[in-house]
Amino acid sequence: MTQQRTVRVGVVGIGRGLAFIEQSTAELGIELVALCDTWAERLDEINAEHGVATYTDYDAFLEHDMDAVVLANYFHQHAPFAIRALQAGKHVMSETAACMTMAEGVALVREVERSGLVYMLAEQYPYMAFNQEMKRLYDEGAVGEFRYGEGEYIHAMSAQFLNSISPGVDHWRNWLPVTYYCSHALAPVMHITGTTPKSVTGFVVPYDEGDAEKARTVRRMDTAGMIVLTMDNGALVKLLQYDLRGGGHWVRIHGNRGLMENTRIGGHHGQDRVRVWRETWEKPDGVPEEMVYKPDFPQHNDKASKSTHFGGDFFMNLIFADAVRSGTAPYFDVYRGVTMAAVGILAYRSALSGGAPIDVPDFRDEAERAAYEDDHWSPDPAAAGPGQPAPSVLGHVRPPVAGREYAEEVWADQDELMYGGKVFGG
Ligand SMILES: NC(=O)c1ccc[n+]([C@@H]2O[C@H](COP(=O)([O-])OP(=O)(O)OC[C@H]3O[C@@H](n4cnc5c(N)ncnc54)[C@H](O)[C@@H]3O)[C@@H](O)[C@H]2O)c1
Repeated sequence: MTQQRTVRVGVVGIGRGLAFIEQSTAELGIELVALCDTWAERLDEINAEHGVATYTDYDAFLEHDMDAVVLANYFHQHAPFAIRALQAGKHVMSETAACMTMAEGVALVREVERSGLVYMLAEQYPYMAFNQEMKRLYDEGAVGEFRYGEGEYIHAMSAQFLNSISPGVDHWRNWLPVTYYCSHALAPVMHITGTTPKSVTGFVVPYDEGDAEKARTVRRMDTAGMIVLTMDNGALVKLLQYDLRGGGHWVRIHGNRGLMENTRIGGHHGQDRVRVWRETWEKPDGVPEEMVYKPDFPQHNDKASKSTHFGGDFFMNLIFADAVRSGTAPYFDVYRGVTMAAVGILAYRSALSGGAPIDVPDFRDEAERAAYEDDHWSPDPAAAGPGQPAPSVLGHVRPPVAGREYAEEVWADQDELMYGGKVFGG
């Protein structure tokens, strides 16, 4: 790896954000220089351990001498934080999702264009070795033209774990509609095939009163979201995400000359193999109909293999640092980032309307995006009011009293909290 210069990064949020400490390395050419969180006690501990400047106030943090800001604050507050960072002259890498409303998405793309700075959506799933291998295969024509795909991100959690990472009744993990966190399922399909969603239809597995584990939480959104997309080349894609049992991340790409997918066997680590299927009458000579193998990363295999999220975090950070160094937009730029967030928003709108398809605007086109500049439709409890959606297709579900009691027990014990020092909402 050759780097022209080190990118000095500040991180907001010390939950997921702490993963970026590990990515502050000479190999990546990234140096973590500042951290910001409202959780002062924990910041002091991190400061003592890592000697990095810490801030509890975002505006003061933005004055720190650094090149870029990584946003790992609350899921539903990234766009306003990104806009302020860009206005302060910092490049931005934002955790999922880019925006919570269509209006925020429009404001964000306009600010990136005005500033001329680099914006990247922090999606690491496309850079896992099996997804990079599927991109390599796709690019060399191994399965022909993309016709149908699937992306799944299923993350079942115990009540204890969920409560520990969702401190407070109004913490986003307790109300975020199940279609919104769709980028882990969608980004690999977009990256492998180079296609973009043009139309979205959403379906929801409703809130499940019979789920005994969920009854020990204050979660009040639905169980899972299924999204059907028409891509810009006409291909269909099915996405599935959230709270079903049997966690994992899966991608399936059907081309008009073959199929490839990652495997579903052998527990959580069994998903790191690629399966390629070509029919006997059109497979290349000398290869079997079916191949199943564990691919290496195309480069930096040793270092990436040791990194979190199946190595995806290593590449995501490298790609961001290289984008800052070269001043060129990465693949998951603001347009693709906001498009993925729009898929989550519009899929929920579609699900609430009984599954009507909705067009995804082209955020590069000022005339198309301007139609959404005042669209503040949001399930955020802080934005509640006439016309705003409830967290579940069933409406405002009331979680059981026992769920609130157990959740409060977990929140009261700071040692049990994974991160996020403050209990959010009433
Ligand atoms: N890519 C991944 O695999 C992955 C994994 C986990 C989380 N995430 C994303 O990371 C983000 C953060 O999630 P999380 O899991 O860390 O939980 P979280 O949302 O509870 O943590 C957010 C952190 O930001 C801090 N924060 C919030 N507002 C702030 C403000 N105004 N000023 C300073 N600090 C503030 C909070 O105190 C908290 O520590 C979310 O967008 C989530 O989707 C991504």
